[in-house]
Amino acid sequence: MLLKVSGINPLICLGIESTADNLGVGIASSDGMILANEVKVHVPDLGGIHPREAARHHSENIGSVITAALTKAQITAKDIDFVSFAQGPGLGPCLRTGATGARALASYLKVPLVGVNHCISHIEVGRLATGAKDPLTLYVSGGNTIVSGFESGRYRVFGETLDIAIGNCLDTFARLAGLEYPGGPAIEKFAAQGSKLIPLPYAVKGMDMSFSGLLTAVSNEFRSGKHCIPDLCFSLQETGYAMLGEVTERALAHTRKPELLLTGGVGANKRLRSVIREIAEEQGAKPYYVPISLATDNGAMIAWTGILAYTHGIRTPIETSYVDPRWRLDEVEIPWR
Ligand code: ATP
Ligand code: FE2
Repeated sequence: MLLKVSGINPLICLGIESTADNLGVGIASSDGMILANEVKVHVPDLGGIHPREAARHHSENIGSVITAALTKAQITAKDIDFVSFAQGPGLGPCLRTGATGARALASYLKVPLVGVNHCISHIEVGRLATGAKDPLTLYVSGGNTIVSGFESGRYRVFGETLDIAIGNCLDTFARLAGLEYPGGPAIEKFAAQGSKLIPLPYAVKGMDMSFSGLLTAVSNEFRSGKHCIPDLCFSLQETGYAMLGEVTERALAHTRKPELLLTGGVGANKRLRSVIREIAEEQGAKPYYVPISLATDNGAMIAWTGILAYTHGIRTPIETSYVDPRWRLDEVEIPWR
């Protein structure tokens, strides 16, 4: 790892995450330490995320979350060597709020700005936290469902959802069925009491998946009144996680990666973890689970990826620091691997 030219102090990066409903500010150092990881979550009053309301939440809280992160890291703003932010993918209004905060802070401190890809940040902090070196990664959250691995200079996508993310599928069904928000943990709890497998559409197309048909079908089964909540939750989990498992296993067999990394909020699920463990055993790979505070959306992952990017020459001039809500991880050249 590169050190400050003038001495032995590591470089320090403050990273801002604001792609969806979490506002995160993390502080990382170039010797691989996470010094702070403060998160403030916007909880919608009703229904799913409303991008503009989440953005307002982020702009109202960004100052206090930055202060909390500095306090936690026991540093002052003057100690920050550069500022990173999630430049995409995500919800436009939320991304723009974080980017505005990052630009303002970098300009005020007269330090460089580094825009990083949110999905790559999940993988990089996962590698840092678990020690996995070259994993195939399953990233499953409210907005993303991606199987990826590093190959010839980039993170390549081996499989992904063609429509909604698995977490979105879980959350939307939970809301319909009147379960607690967020839906994933509530569904996991009920699924443990279920036993009957209700036939639901299993949609793997090549290496890609579709969860919208699964959501429609399980919603219709709920409305039919023929099944109890535990059986619906059990069937939803079994079907959805089997789809994730099939694509992940095929990608692992094809790439022969020695490690399998599970990250994103849905990665907290015990049933999915057991599916991942079985696949890893079967394919002779080592399974890794990212600790939950670093697996859900957080600022530390943005700060750490900022360190990797900055120390390998990447800078984002303010003039070109516009956000990209559809920025795919396989568009990014990775100079640090
Ligand atoms: P992204 O911007 O990366 O798409 P996100 O805002 O959806 O992220 P995360 O915090 O990574 O953020 O993930 C949240 C999702 O994780 C929600 O869909 C939630 O229901 C799901 N989740 C959390 N715990 C569990 C669990 N135990 N089982 C299944 N799903 C879970
Ligand atoms: Fe995320």
